[in-house]
Amino acid sequence: MKKTFFTLLLMMLATLGMLGCNSNTGTDNTMIQTDSSEQRWWKEAVVYQLYPRSFKDSDGDGIGDLKGIMEKLDYLKSLGVDVVWLNPIYSSPNDDNGYDVSDYRGIMPEFGTMQDFDALLKAMHEKGLKLVMDIVVNHSSDEHEWFKQSRSSRDNKYRDYYHWWPAEKGKPPYRYSLFDVNHDAWRYDSLTNAYYLHYFGVKQPDLNWENPKLRQEIYDMMKFWAEKGVDGFRLDAFQFAAKDTTWPELPKGYEKEFAKHVAMKPAIHGYLQEMYEQVLSKYDVMSVAEGAGNSFEDAHNLVDADRKELNMAYAFEAIDLAKSSGYDLLQFKQVFSKWDSAFAQKGWLSIFLANHDNARMVTRWANDSPEYREVATKMLNTFLLSMRGTPYCYYGDELGMNNPGFTKITDYKDGPSLNDYTYKLNNGMKPEDILKEMQFSCRDNGRTPMQWSNAAQAGFTTGVPWIAVNQNYTTVNVAMQEKDDNSCLQYFKRMVSLRKAEKALVYGKYTLLDAGNQQVYAYTREWQGKKLLVLLNFSDKPATANTGVKTANAKVLIHNYSTTPSATLRPYEAVIYGL
Ligand code: GLC
Repeated sequence: MKKTFFTLLLMMLATLGMLGCNSNTGTDNTMIQTDSSEQRWWKEAVVYQLYPRSFKDSDGDGIGDLKGIMEKLDYLKSLGVDVVWLNPIYSSPNDDNGYDVSDYRGIMPEFGTMQDFDALLKAMHEKGLKLVMDIVVNHSSDEHEWFKQSRSSRDNKYRDYYHWWPAEKGKPPYRYSLFDVNHDAWRYDSLTNAYYLHYFGVKQPDLNWENPKLRQEIYDMMKFWAEKGVDGFRLDAFQFAAKDTTWPELPKGYEKEFAKHVAMKPAIHGYLQEMYEQVLSKYDVMSVAEGAGNSFEDAHNLVDADRKELNMAYAFEAIDLAKSSGYDLLQFKQVFSKWDSAFAQKGWLSIFLANHDNARMVTRWANDSPEYREVATKMLNTFLLSMRGTPYCYYGDELGMNNPGFTKITDYKDGPSLNDYTYKLNNGMKPEDILKEMQFSCRDNGRTPMQWSNAAQAGFTTGVPWIAVNQNYTTVNVAMQEKDDNSCLQYFKRMVSLRKAEKALVYGKYTLLDAGNQQVYAYTREWQGKKLLVLLNFSDKPATANTGVKTANAKVLIHNYSTTPSATLRPYEAVIYGL
């Protein structure tokens, strides 16, 4: 990586202590208690995100299901994780794999029944595992009863559950849709001669949060799940729920900064405070927003404890850095450091490097070549589990699952990605160029079946999986890794245990060291007199770090190579020292 102006600027800022790494944060018990240092179960938890469709199929239809998850509870428990976040499991026509809900109180038949859900929740609780539900309420499915009613006539009592624009007023002001094949967010509906709004797919009409009746329905629905005993909620796409319904014209090309124009409209905080009062405050649940707005101020406004809204933010700035052309480690460090610094005293963050909307962690952030995939996976998991914030581990990343290398458009199943492909073709891009990019970044790369064993279809299903299994399942799978003490899986478990044993890794002050180092990410975590040094070589070359910290007498707490670490870190080497 060459030294750019940006790099030099970073180095200067680091020298001046302005990367926010030396904050007087009150994480020390001699200092003032801040809300970041207040101890809470959901801060200490390790979250495991599980994509139900791809985790385990119990009935041979090729689609993962609740009984399949039930079969694997011992596995989840063995990881040492505390919380399982399930992507949506509600009734849905599956235009967006469950993110288009047609009944918020029903279970998708492909996934099972409400009895299966109740049994799963009970069994999870018996094992000490918590469950977080995905709440998709920026929009519903167009097959939801509310929408069917809403579109049926202009004076239907559900009309105002959605956003409609009467066609006699002409065309509505342009709004960008993230998933529409033409990226047009207004769809004309001849039944009532009006347009409805859909920021996502055409089958995902946006709900009208200005309507108190709609809001009450949502809170009642959340209470329905909370009463069943679920332990938390992830609010999908919620930053878009509040809208400027005067529908002003937006500047041409505004979609390049989509969130800046349409996310976090002021009314959102009123809705969240109401949700807190009616639902969240009444149960011991964790709550996390998808996204964190457009600024630290927005993010703080969502999660500072005294505001009584949500528990933690889930900021996208870092996850968006990885491109098929690579990313700059200095920028990566800078983004994580500035977010840490901004939340050192108040509020709380999620830490993640992957989810169901992104390709695989090791492919995007490190190196999935056979030579380095394992060591690089371990290094990334060391990072994920040693930062301040609640870590979110995406299923399969504990094994080092990587992108499957799909070559044909028919390999991909995600509707929005297929729409995007068509859109690009229509706009003159060459199919081979689109496919090349998709092979790196398409979110289906992160949705291939969990690799349980080297049996057919990786032991995921006895049928034909809904999306192809990564062909490396014969060597990358749970069964083999459980038997191998040096595997990614066993390393992941050790790293989770270390996080549990060392509260410094949860609450400790974070200090970035050697900020200008282009290969190594080095930092310390400090808490109540304990200090840990984390060294991570993010490159495929040997590297040294100039941390100024002596490690000669330090204890190696975890290390991803089988031979002792030295001053020179090997490719993707990771080590945590207790100082
Ligand atoms: C969120 C989800 C994504 C989904 C979209 C629409 O971004 O994470 O998977 O497609 O919302 O609900």
